[in-house]
Amino acid sequence: MKYPRRLSSGANNTVIALSETEVAKLFSGDTRSDIGSEAEKMRFANAINELIVRFSRLDYNDTLEAEMLVMERIYPIDYRAHEVERRELWFDVFADELAQLHANGFVHRDLKRPSGLDGLAFDNILLTDRGLRLIDVGISALKHQVGDKIFARYVAHEQDELALFRDYFLNR
Ligand SMILES: Nc1ncnc2c1ncn2[C@@H]1O[C@H](COP(=O)(O)OP(=O)(O)O)[C@@H](O)[C@H]1O
Ligand SMILES: [Mg+2]
Repeated sequence: MKYPRRLSSGANNTVIALSETEVAKLFSGDTRSDIGSEAEKMRFANAINELIVRFSRLDYNDTLEAEMLVMERIYPIDYRAHEVERRELWFDVFADELAQLHANGFVHRDLKRPSGLDGLAFDNILLTDRGLRLIDVGISALKHQVGDKIFARYVAHEQDELALFRDYFLNR
């Protein structure tokens, strides 16, 4: 199916632009991910800080016959458009905000993995002119759902990926 105003068709979902300020992640009948749980995780993280893209609403598009997760639209810029000194500051804020999410029971779990075969590593981390933001909570986990032990393992793994991201972000 060809979607109008498509931004991306990732491994699991297509993302389309709705306006200058909103995008929608489409969930059609054959997507395996669950729109309700993705929305819930996004709302959970939004209540902690502003690192994860802001959730707007769930909707249904009759023409496209798709469920839509509507969220804030982000306009990413290339890392190398900014001096490494500035990127270091942005990285520190990012690491603090990620730690704050962890401390409050949210782990993203998808910092590094590319979206689909042609995806790039770290493509869920978007740089804006106001700093780094995170999208795609598809496989994120909440501590109250997975329990302390599994959550701690996920967090340890995320910290390893954060160190890899630091190297990528500052030395590329
Ligand atoms: N809020 C957003 N603003 C701008 N672009 C977005 C937004 N959300 C997703 N995208 C674009 O769509 C792509 C796929 O979205 P994502 O949520 O990562 O889905 P997937 O599960 O396919 O990886 C992203 O890599 C990005 O290019
Ligand atoms: Mg993704």
